[in-house]
This record gives sequence, structure tokens and C-alpha cells, in this order.
Amino acid sequence: VYKAAVFDLDGVIADTARFHYLAWKKLADELGIYFDEKINERLKGVGRMESLEMILEKSPRKFTREEKEHLAEKKNGYYKDMIEKMTQEDLLPGAGELILALKGRGVKIALASASRNAPIVLKRLGIEELFDYVVDAARIKRGKPDPEIFLVAAENLGLKPGECVGMEDSTAGIEAIKRAGMFAVGIGDPQILKKADIVLKDLKNFREILRLFDNQVESI
Ligand code: BG6
Ligand code: MG
Repeated sequence: VYKAAVFDLDGVIADTARFHYLAWKKLADELGIYFDEKINERLKGVGRMESLEMILEKSPRKFTREEKEHLAEKKNGYYKDMIEKMTQEDLLPGAGELILALKGRGVKIALASASRNAPIVLKRLGIEELFDYVVDAARIKRGKPDPEIFLVAAENLGLKPGECVGMEDSTAGIEAIKRAGMFAVGIGDPQILKKADIVLKDLKNFREILRLFDNQVESI
């Protein structure tokens, strides 16, 4: 019986995956490193420093620890500029409706985002109050595809992973959900999110997700 929905943020609830890409692209261009949307698929769901390492793989140059920290901070500056003007309008279609419908059914809501900017984004979107638990990305030791962030979410909701449905737009995130032992809903392209239990193009069709929670209520 599913009692909770554990959401990824960037690319699921808000169109911020686009901003992360554009901010990395700007940095990569400045460094003269090739970067495109295909390479970006690997970065989705992955933490800031790890993402930078993936971009720098394409450079013949070696960077010191300090240089890398400076570059990561620079990207974060670009990203922060992009999210500054976000409002409730920037919720992806269906996301707000889904969360409200789930809450109406008594389903617990948690956020499992690797982004340290997640609390600011939730605030800008005006939905932070709807979450029963938001995982603090800074306290997660092993990033997605490790299941840690999803396990922490379930634990803090007081539920077993098998009672949770996870939602993700990244391959790393889907793998993390499956390794945690949750039901995985992929948001995006089924060719990319192969390991998901079901894949939806976006949340416009959120009734498909509500069905996961409704069918079981009838069978009690
Ligand atoms: C994830 C994004 O949610 O958060 C990644 O999918 C991003 O693209 C990661 O790198 C870390 O985000 P931040 O805001 O802490 O740099
Ligand atoms: Mg994401």
C-alpha cells in the first residue's frame, strides 16, 4: 500500500533542469569545453561538484581543488540569477494539481532533491508548506544513483520504502528509487528512463499517478 510520494524537484516539479543545463553550458563555453544536452543527461540528478567533474572530463587541462570550487560557485551564481525571478507560474504543468490531489487523499509528500537550492526554489514556487519532509541535500553523503536520499526521505516520513512512490526525470534518480525499493515513476522519455516502473511524458497526465494510490484504497 502506497502512503507517500517522494518527489525530485528539478525537471519534475519545476523546469529548473533547464536552468541547471544553461548555467553549466555557459560555464563550459567560457572554458572552451564541449557540452550539449546529450552529455547533460548524465549530469541530471547528480550533485554540483560531481557534475563539474563530468564536464571537466572533456578538458585536457587539470584543475586544482581551488579552481574547481571557484568554477562550481560560478555556475551556482549563474543558476541563482536564473531562479531569481521564478514564481508559482514556473511550476511544471500538473505538478501543483498532483501534489494537492495527493494531499487531499492523505498521502504524505516528501522532496528528495540533490540541489542545495531546493528550499529557495520551493519557496519561490510557493509550495514549501505542502511538504511533510524535505531532505537536506547537504547531509546526504552519497548522491544519486545511490539510494541514500530516498531512504532518508522514507525514514523521516516514518514509512518503509515499499510504501513510497518516487518520481524522477533522471536516469541516476530512477536507479536511486529502484535501489531504495520504491515504485519508480519516470517523467520524460521512456527510451532514457528504462528502469522506471512507469514513464509519463510530464505531469499533465497526473491522474495516472493518482491511480497508483486510488486502486489500492478500493482493495482494502
Ligand atoms: C539536482 C539537479 O537536482 O541538483 C542537478 O538535477 C544539480 O542538475 C543538483 O547539479 C545539485 O544542485 P545545486 O543547486 O546544489 O547545485
Ligand atoms: Mg531532476
